[in-house]
Amino acid sequence: MPNEGSTASSPAPAALTPQAVVVPLTRHAIFLVLTMTPEAASADAVRSMCGDLGGLIRAVGFRDPEAKLSCVLSIGSDAWDRLFSGPRPRELHPFKEISAGARHAVSTPGDLLFHIRAERPDLCFELASQIMMKLGDAVEVADEVYGFRYFDDRDLLGFVDGTENPAGQEALDFALVGAEDPAFTGGSYVYVQKYIHDLAGWNALPTEAQERIIGRTKLSDIELDDSIKPTSAHNALNTIVDENGNEQKILREGMVFGNAGRGEYGIYFIAYSRTPGVTEQMLQNMFVGRPPGNYDRILDFSRPLTGTAFFSPPIEILDAIAANALASAPTGNPAENDSSSPAAPASDGSLRIGSLKGERNE
Ligand code: HEM
Repeated sequence: MPNEGSTASSPAPAALTPQAVVVPLTRHAIFLVLTMTPEAASADAVRSMCGDLGGLIRAVGFRDPEAKLSCVLSIGSDAWDRLFSGPRPRELHPFKEISAGARHAVSTPGDLLFHIRAERPDLCFELASQIMMKLGDAVEVADEVYGFRYFDDRDLLGFVDGTENPAGQEALDFALVGAEDPAFTGGSYVYVQKYIHDLAGWNALPTEAQERIIGRTKLSDIELDDSIKPTSAHNALNTIVDENGNEQKILREGMVFGNAGRGEYGIYFIAYSRTPGVTEQMLQNMFVGRPPGNYDRILDFSRPLTGTAFFSPPIEILDAIAANALASAPTGNPAENDSSSPAAPASDGSLRIGSLKGERNE
């Protein structure tokens, strides 16, 4: 249902429709990070893509529905302003670089992120190709990573990854913006980092030492008892609570990638969250440490080559971006021309920038 939109004949839904952020695990993924070229026409090509993506996903995905093809399109902070004169997601900002000791969470360019997932790599590849053909020279590729599932969802360090991810309703609650930002309910803040491992160094550690770094047993994936788990364990530093003592979570959808011939072993980290502050706090805890200096020892063996922040708008906002040229044309109705005010959807469920619902389902 995400990325499907509504049909022209169905009534406008009361709430905005999330993209396919919360979906079952798949065996394959492509992470495609693009920058837009400076020409004005590039922004128009990307706006069209915002409207065309649903149709592309249906066209490629329908060739094997069981392969569960999905794609989430996310937009970076600077690109948002280039693409859309309407409201901005309240907390959208560029990735905040962190430097602490030898550890460096770099910030790297990216205007658009296509997170493509399916059970089959060929469907992912076909969709990525169709997207690139449509965007043409409007974009340049900043990064393109082919992720795959490794045994029982292990990372290349050998540990099961994803066990403590929120699931079901909890995943929706932690991954999607709620009523706190009504114009963007159903959207999601996305952080990506491409990590490369020093696998030889890691494998030289005894298994017990690796387990104390991760905070879980390696073979059986059981959480270490608090009596032996160090406060610097990865899962200890990434457990954070708000001022009321409630645990704050993110939805991690990362996948491993590699190139055996080049000795390249990595994990593409991607997290969806209701607010970027939670992911940022986790990164602070890992890189700086909690307390400072008590940092995540994974980082002695894994180094991020990229770091970029995005926002995944709900489907209706993608439609609004596609129609942005239309929206910026004077309509004669002052209420519709005030781009500073249309943050909340109107009572008919529209974004006050023209009738957009259902229009992209040709
Ligand atoms: C080299 C990079 C990373 C590797 C290899 C890695 C691996 C793992 C593993 C094996 C687990 C335990 C199983 C699980 O619950 O999923 C885990 C848990 C977790 N990781 Fe990572 N991770 C990495 C980066 C990150 C980053 C950058 C963040 C956040 C910004 C993060 C957030 C979390 C969280 C929230 C948990 C669950 C903690 C809990 O509630 O027990 N991880 N990770």
